[in-house]
Amino acid sequence: MTTPEIDLRSDTVTRPTPEMLAAMAHASLGDDSRDGDPTVARLEDIAAQQCGKQAGLFLPSGTMANLVAILAHTGRAGEVLMEATSHTLTSELGGIGALAGLFTRPLPGHRGAPDFDALRAAVRRPGIGRNRVGTALIQLETSHNHAGGAVLPLALMAAIRGLSLQHNVPVHIDGARLFNAATALGVGVDVIAQHADSVNFCISKGLSAPIGSLLCGTEEFIENARGYRRMVGGNLRQAGPLAAAGIIAIERMSTRLGEDHATAKQLATGLAALDPSLVDPAAIETNIVRIDVSRSPLDAASWEQKLGSVGIRVGAYGTEKQLRLVTHRHVDAAAIDRVLEEVGRMLRR
Ligand SMILES: Cc1ncc(COP(=O)(O)O)c(C=O)c1O
Repeated sequence: MTTPEIDLRSDTVTRPTPEMLAAMAHASLGDDSRDGDPTVARLEDIAAQQCGKQAGLFLPSGTMANLVAILAHTGRAGEVLMEATSHTLTSELGGIGALAGLFTRPLPGHRGAPDFDALRAAVRRPGIGRNRVGTALIQLETSHNHAGGAVLPLALMAAIRGLSLQHNVPVHIDGARLFNAATALGVGVDVIAQHADSVNFCISKGLSAPIGSLLCGTEEFIENARGYRRMVGGNLRQAGPLAAAGIIAIERMSTRLGEDHATAKQLATGLAALDPSLVDPAAIETNIVRIDVSRSPLDAASWEQKLGSVGIRVGAYGTEKQLRLVTHRHVDAAAIDRVLEEVGRMLRR
């Protein structure tokens, strides 16, 4: 019998559950962008309700959800403020400039959270002054991908919300892993989303659905976003089967994410026991474990290759000195034990 592969490259590798596949097979097939589709409409309602917002919009990806949110908030004018290592700045190929035509101001931060004083100093009322571009949007990210799944503190979000209201600047949350953040904080996603005008989350990551993201906000904002979704080619047609999987993702899969956080902690604790320079287990808040291999005898590509040869897939991250390991539904405690055994063997060689 061959040992099953353990894929820690991302939580996007999670397969739909049998319940999702059954629901997909029997879902409605309305043309969502012509007559509407009842399953898509239900998914959008459920997403909005969970986030405490008036309306929701189903989009193909988190990248498109961010782009559409940015377009709908700004109308392609002004400056967007966000922490320098935000996914939108580092991994969305400059769409914010190239497609939305906006200026961005990367802010210094700590564990993905923008420095509040730097943010306060950077905010300028929209349209103020003849020689300055006004702030059109503040964007936040939680959990934070590049900061190893770190979660934004609610008190900081509340302070940023206060600042945004004071300056009449909207706030958007890139919550690709919003349910992970909420699980880590022990609150509903609405408690996080209350600090923003709009929020998006992915059903395609740890929630196990095959495709999709939901953007939520006021009815007016979502109507506007629907137009921009069409502009960027994200109109959906017979998306009922994807929405059917998405409903199960939200209703059933969001409640099990604590298991992924526990396996991430187990992984980080075990790795630190092998070599404390690799990772600080106390920094693990959700399902992402970033490993620093700069003091390991092997570079990130060698980790990838050597672990790959024993059926464990990990991803080098940005440089040859870092890896990102992500836990999810297909990785249980026994799988983590096997990973730790193989890493131990690799490091001893
Ligand atoms: C924080 C964050 N935002 C946005 C995205 C983009 O999502 P997608 O891959 O669906 O475009 C990701 C993907 O990993 C992410 O981690």
